Amino acid sequence: MSANNRVSKETILHDLRQLGVQSGMELLVHSSLSRIGYVEGGADTVIDALLKAVDPAEGTLLVPTLTGTSADSAEQPPFFDVKASQCWTGVIPETMRLREDAVRSLSPTHSVAAIGRNAFDLTRGHEDCWTTCGFGSPYYRLCRRRGAILLLGVTLESNTTFHTVEEVVGVPYHLQPKPVTCTMTDEQGRSIVRSTMLHDWGTPRNFSVLEAPLLAEGIMKAGRIGHADCFLIDAESFLAYSTDQLQSNPRLLTAQS
Ligand SMILES: CC(C)(COP(=O)(O)OP(=O)(O)OC[C@H]1O[C@@H](n2cnc3c(N)ncnc32)[C@H](O)[C@@H]1OP(=O)(O)O)[C@@H](O)C(=O)NCCC(=O)NCCS
Repeated sequence: MSANNRVSKETILHDLRQLGVQSGMELLVHSSLSRIGYVEGGADTVIDALLKAVDPAEGTLLVPTLTGTSADSAEQPPFFDVKASQCWTGVIPETMRLREDAVRSLSPTHSVAAIGRNAFDLTRGHEDCWTTCGFGSPYYRLCRRRGAILLLGVTLESNTTFHTVEEVVGVPYHLQPKPVTCTMTDEQGRSIVRSTMLHDWGTPRNFSVLEAPLLAEGIMKAGRIGHADCFLIDAESFLAYSTDQLQSNPRLLTAQS
């Protein structure tokens, strides 16, 4: 990051349009602020540009606000407070979740924050999902609603929706053997207790194995936003294609495959 690396809101908006982000889209963004260059106004400028691109009156912007850790287990259940729990997915999601108009889903490990027309519809009921990224989760819903995923300065390794694929297929390495009783605190300060299947962090992944095929299939498009290399993914066809691939080779996404 240096002074001659400056990137404005207008440049980000222009580059988002070039990549194919349109008004009315439901867009989940995984990000790295530093990869964009020196952004005048920091994370808020990126969020403002993304919101302008999708138009919150028509579309919805989502960010992953993950809080899970490798220590989460029956012995050490994760505790999630929708207002207080900081995420580890970067300054852009952490800044967005704190905005007045953001709605954050309830999940012990894999919450998302959303702003826009369908923010409530996309985030509601996450606490009732048996697996945190599977059926009924915001990640799954986004795929079923023909949303899109933007990898802004990050690679497929950061694409949480691969866990959706793993949960839909039911691969043997991904989840802990038994449900864990987790406590969450909602906006009103109420305690919500749910049994949920948590991720097992033991298996290294290689999600980038699908980079070339996803580009070749036209499911994913590469581009640049500021100085950041980016991918825009069609979520519905991503889920369909990756599920097919993983069903035929259940070890496809593990680093040892
Ligand atoms: C981990 C990760 C967030 C790190 O990226 P990053 O760019 O270093 O960090 P952030 O996006 O939080 O941005 C903060 C950094 O931007 C830089 N920065 C600060 N102000 C800035 C500005 N105005 N313009 C540009 N960069 C700036 C700084 O280096 C800052 O780091 P620091 O606070 O340690 O000094 C990123 O690599 C990543 O993995 N993102 C995806 C996460 C995700 O969605 N994971 C899903 C897992 S399944």
